[in-house]
Amino acid sequence: MLLSIPELLTPEQTRQCRAALEQAAWVDGRDTAGHVAVQVKNNRQLPLDHPVAQHWGQAIVQALSTNPTFMSAALPQRILPPRFNRYEGGEAYGFHIDNAIFQAPNTTTRVRSDISTTVFFSDPDEYEGGELIIRDTYGEHSIKLPSGHAVVYPGTSLHRVTPVTRGVRYGSFFWTQSLVRDDGRRALLLEQDVAIQRLIQAGADPEVVAQLTGVYHNLLRMWSEL
Ligand code: NI
Repeated sequence: MLLSIPELLTPEQTRQCRAALEQAAWVDGRDTAGHVAVQVKNNRQLPLDHPVAQHWGQAIVQALSTNPTFMSAALPQRILPPRFNRYEGGEAYGFHIDNAIFQAPNTTTRVRSDISTTVFFSDPDEYEGGELIIRDTYGEHSIKLPSGHAVVYPGTSLHRVTPVTRGVRYGSFFWTQSLVRDDGRRALLLEQDVAIQRLIQAGADPEVVAQLTGVYHNLLRMWSEL
């Protein structure tokens, strides 16, 4: 499932985060790339312990936790601290699939990357190129959203960032382990959740709503892993 989340952050938060990113000291993105990714990764990133990454990473996680679309679509169990990157002067990230398992920083907890999220911190007209290309069974999707907006896509997807040939592309990305590992099952649960909400808004028979809500929870009970 590919889902955009408009205005994950408020315009004021987005402006403040962007200003902080412009002032920060960036390091070579290849520093943390695995032996395969290092061959296709060419960008810059903030160290995980950089104060800007920590402060705005927490702000993003906080915004997610109160965002009904993200909560309903992702059914998050664990969210890794958001990372920040920057592309300019032809920098790009070639096609790859992200690692399946990550160690949460400063813990013994491992997190499975069921879901990837990218938050944009540059507006589309500020840079040329820099599209996030996601390939799935329906073909390739090209994504370039306004600053402060986010896109959620399955961790299983092959994806890349095209070369940024003008301007600077700032972004944040992070992985989420979901209560429901399988993307197809998550998509069905989201469809049902959305349909139930629409029935409630349309004033449907409460008994029918309760019955469908029960089915939702029984499917979640069957498919979730804690
Ligand atoms: Ni990736």
